[in-house]
Amino acid sequence: MTTPIPKPGVLDVAPYIGGLHTISGVNRVIVLASNETPLGPSQKAIKAYTDAAGQIHRYCDGHASALRKSIGKRFSCDPERIVCGAGSDELIQMLIRAYAGPGDELLYSKYGFSIYPIFATGAGVTPVAAEETNLTTNVDALLAKVSDKTRLLFIANPNNPTGTYLNTEELSRLRDNLRDDILLVIDAAYAEYVNRDDYTAGVDLVERHENVVMTRTCSKIFGLAALRLGWAYCPLAVTDALNRIRSPFNVSGPAQAAGLAAMEDRAHTKKSLALNEQWLPWLTKHLNRLGLEVVPSVANFVLARFPDVESAQLAYDALLEAGIITRLMKSYHLPESLRISVGLGEENEALIQALRQHFEKQ
Ligand SMILES: Cc1ncc(COP(=O)(O)O)c(C=O)c1O
Repeated sequence: MTTPIPKPGVLDVAPYIGGLHTISGVNRVIVLASNETPLGPSQKAIKAYTDAAGQIHRYCDGHASALRKSIGKRFSCDPERIVCGAGSDELIQMLIRAYAGPGDELLYSKYGFSIYPIFATGAGVTPVAAEETNLTTNVDALLAKVSDKTRLLFIANPNNPTGTYLNTEELSRLRDNLRDDILLVIDAAYAEYVNRDDYTAGVDLVERHENVVMTRTCSKIFGLAALRLGWAYCPLAVTDALNRIRSPFNVSGPAQAAGLAAMEDRAHTKKSLALNEQWLPWLTKHLNRLGLEVVPSVANFVLARFPDVESAQLAYDALLEAGIITRLMKSYHLPESLRISVGLGEENEALIQALRQHFEKQ
């Protein structure tokens, strides 16, 4: 008997494993696993979402025109070059589908965001990883891996799960040494958190070059992860390509409404940023005091390095026991590391307290 067989590549995909949000039998859980904002969404976004409920029998604006306009205003971008997606994940997948196919290669950094090789493999595209230096993207290593088959180069800046970043100069050097027919995708999901003079999210690079795209998300500082909303800033030719393959109503009406309200609520994102700026250094310092190495992060999470795989697993288990969910980095080839999102003050304190007690028991 014959049965339908998925296309080459599909069954090679190791499915993405998301962070936990619940622990069975525990009522009050502290979730520090998925780099969401601990402050929750803007009240204005919640209201816009609820107000949109009366219109869900109607198709929404398939071009997300008002939302693109408000994103453009907030980030000084041309709305005509913006494409919205159901999360930046969808945009990443669309970019791969639009620009590569079987026999082509997608280049990324070894500890880069895991969705790049997952979507590449699913599309029959070969993912090629370049080595890093001190858990940081290495421009020369990436350039050395460029081949005739390279079609796309993805870089998360800052990177998840390491929290490290490439400065403006290095990013420009990467672009300038890349063939013009290779699309450089700068995934700036955590850009809003970065507080460094030598950082660019990539808007300027997109505007200057025909082969650079920047992707952004509303899942992190904007607090809309469950709504699935992201956007890409593109050269016009790329916008055109994405709009041709995009599902016509890929961003739901309530998501557009909430996204627009979230863009306009600057006070809310300011509060999120202030919280991160206070607690990111605190978390780093207290993890260090417990004897853990912490990779310097410019995002809203840290990567804590344990001496070995077993001690990372034991710490992860002890935290779960204490009702605190972090992320073990096995699927990122960093099994001796835990990624910990910056939480509310009391959540960060509870984490440090639980880890301290765990180490004391050993
Ligand atoms: C670097 C990076 N890019 C993209 C995403 C996907 O975000 P979204 O929720 O917009 O699909 C994430 C989510 O964790 C991320 O860390």
